[in-house]
Amino acid sequence: MMRKPRETSVQLGVNLGGLAMANPVTTASGTFAAGREYSDFVDVSSLGAVTTKGVSLNGWEGNASPRIAETPCGMLNSIGLQNPGVRHLLDVDIPWLAQVGATTIVNVSGHSFEEYVQVIEALEQTEHIGAYEVNISCPNVDAGGMTIGCDAHSVEEVVGLCRAATTRPLIVKLTPNVTDITEIARAAVSGGADALSLINTLLGMAIDARKRTPQLARIVGGLSGPAVKPVALRMVWQVHNAVDVPLLGMGGIASGLDAIEFMLAGATAVAVGTANFTNPTATIDVLDGIIDYCETEGVHDVNELIGGLVC
Ligand SMILES: Cc1cc2nc3c(=O)[nH]c(=O)nc-3n(C[C@H](O)[C@H](O)[C@H](O)COP(=O)(O)O)c2cc1C
Repeated sequence: MMRKPRETSVQLGVNLGGLAMANPVTTASGTFAAGREYSDFVDVSSLGAVTTKGVSLNGWEGNASPRIAETPCGMLNSIGLQNPGVRHLLDVDIPWLAQVGATTIVNVSGHSFEEYVQVIEALEQTEHIGAYEVNISCPNVDAGGMTIGCDAHSVEEVVGLCRAATTRPLIVKLTPNVTDITEIARAAVSGGADALSLINTLLGMAIDARKRTPQLARIVGGLSGPAVKPVALRMVWQVHNAVDVPLLGMGGIASGLDAIEFMLAGATAVAVGTANFTNPTATIDVLDGIIDYCETEGVHDVNELIGGLVC
């Protein structure tokens, strides 16, 4: 049965760097496709936004299998940004999202600075896109992704190029695989980011002791799920204290209370990722949990929660 969030008088609307969201819950890129696969379970139009899987100019095949491994309280993936390319997104996914009335954030990938810009340029003519989320943080590709996102100068430059290509809200997605996340966050804001999203996956590996082999064909991959939540919370809190743009928090969110913790640490909105794989209605459960918390705690407007941590 398709789930919708329950009715409430709590004011749930938030503004993520110019993107008006009816509530603070979106999906983490790469864990919800473009929404259609989940639409038997979830009314995707009732989410604050649907964030699509990373898209590149032409299709990418991704990395060799095995590219998923289970780990305690999480998973490793080395998908490598497999996607059918921007044409497919424009012809198939965006029209479907428009038809169901879902607010849409398009996650943008690239192997080079130019490719990020080319993807944005290809998407600019289409009406039904609320914001871009530029992924400069994927740990599973050799060029682009995290190699850009770990260097402050590269971050400022690529964000500046994307900024010049669009007036739509520009969200920049940060990698946790850095020494000082605030340095990278400041560089992204200097480049023109309207909002920041964090965290992408943490670089990790898993070994099969009996076979004495890595569990992933690529050997290393990105760790996600509840195991990364404390790291994600710490980074959201640090970045909230370092820059003045709204934050989209993610990393192990599976319940309303998880989401509330991210909002108290400084997130304006939250994304549900790996939890979708074990619970296809996780997004609605998180949203209902936020509503429960607000009603119980006498919070009339979710915006009151943002950065409300008492230290
Ligand atoms: C299978 C898989 C694919 C992902 N693909 C993308 C992607 O295409 N673009 C991106 O920015 N992040 C991607 N991510 C990272 C997630 O969007 C998210 O940042 C990360 O998983 C942390 O959130 P979670 O612990 O709730 O999953 C992917 C994560 C997983 C598990």
